Amino acid sequence: MDPVPWRDAWQDALYGPDGFYRRPEGPAGHFTTSAHGGPGALLAQALARLADTEGATHVVDVGAGRGELLEALHADRPDLRLTGVDVVDRPVSLPAGVGWTTSPGGAVLPEALVDLDDVLVVAHEWLDVVPCTVAEIDRAGRPRTVLVDPRSGEESLGGPLDPADAAWCAAHWPTDDLAPGDRVEVGLARDRAWADLLGRVKRGVVLAVDYGHTAADRPARGTLIGYRDGVGVDPVPDGSCDVTAHVAVDSLRHDELTTQREALHRLLGRPVVPDHGLSRTDPAAYLAALARTSALTALTDPAGLGGFRWVLARVRAG
Ligand SMILES: C[S@@+](CC[C@H](N)C(=O)[O-])C[C@H]1O[C@@H](n2cnc3c(N)ncnc32)[C@H](O)[C@@H]1O
Repeated sequence: MDPVPWRDAWQDALYGPDGFYRRPEGPAGHFTTSAHGGPGALLAQALARLADTEGATHVVDVGAGRGELLEALHADRPDLRLTGVDVVDRPVSLPAGVGWTTSPGGAVLPEALVDLDDVLVVAHEWLDVVPCTVAEIDRAGRPRTVLVDPRSGEESLGGPLDPADAAWCAAHWPTDDLAPGDRVEVGLARDRAWADLLGRVKRGVVLAVDYGHTAADRPARGTLIGYRDGVGVDPVPDGSCDVTAHVAVDSLRHDELTTQREALHRLLGRPVVPDHGLSRTDPAAYLAALARTSALTALTDPAGLGGFRWVLARVRAG
């Protein structure tokens, strides 16, 4: 097969007719995120608090998987209006009353997602699967577009970056000091997708939670990787695995940029080990408190989920 730019192969691999994210098992069949299980229930509580603080009565989950986070939110706060957005039809397991909009996928959002009011939009691990241009520095020190054979994953170097990607690099990830073989995952496609999402909001707050880096800590060799059945694999864009790359979070329009650890400490407090005496007087409460502490510890681990970036942007009615 002819090699194509990574961004095109990636879009087709994840969101084409046989794309990875259209599979029945959904993302949770291949990897765990903060949105799943006990940690997901606690994350839902934190998001409900954020919604209250920001005056939001509607939570929209963009890249909702099969609705795991929405189910937890609904269980905690049935008073909130909830809507999921993902590339598949509405999961049958979703509680009645939770809305759903089917999306094309990647950088493209559904037309119906407009005029969101008094809303908290959450994009939890969406931007890392918005395909972007991958560039590599050639032997002469010039950035070139990386091409890939969609069937084998074999890479080759294509032409120079197009002017828009080159301009993004100059502003956010300069290539002058990079060495041959260094790579840049050009954030322009993510910036544009994020700006599009913000444009769907009349009044509210938009939160992205993702693996990320800033100008202070760009990864020299790139972060492109595949995931299948719970393990990292070579990123072959044939639809058999997830393909993801960390997000340049500081180039996204934002009002606040922080880590998940800091954000959750602010919203939920710090993990507290419950008094052991409670295990005798109220064993159920003791076990619930232990489970909460363990979930919060996992979500805020600085070497793990706590290192995720929270990017928050407010949209005020104009
Ligand atoms: C890495 S998974 C994260 C799923 C879930 N948010 C979680 O954290 O467990 C990314 C999800 O984003 C979805 N997605 C990608 N592009 C999208 C788009 N344009 N609109 C809606 N969902 C999208 C994928 O289909 C996939 O379910």
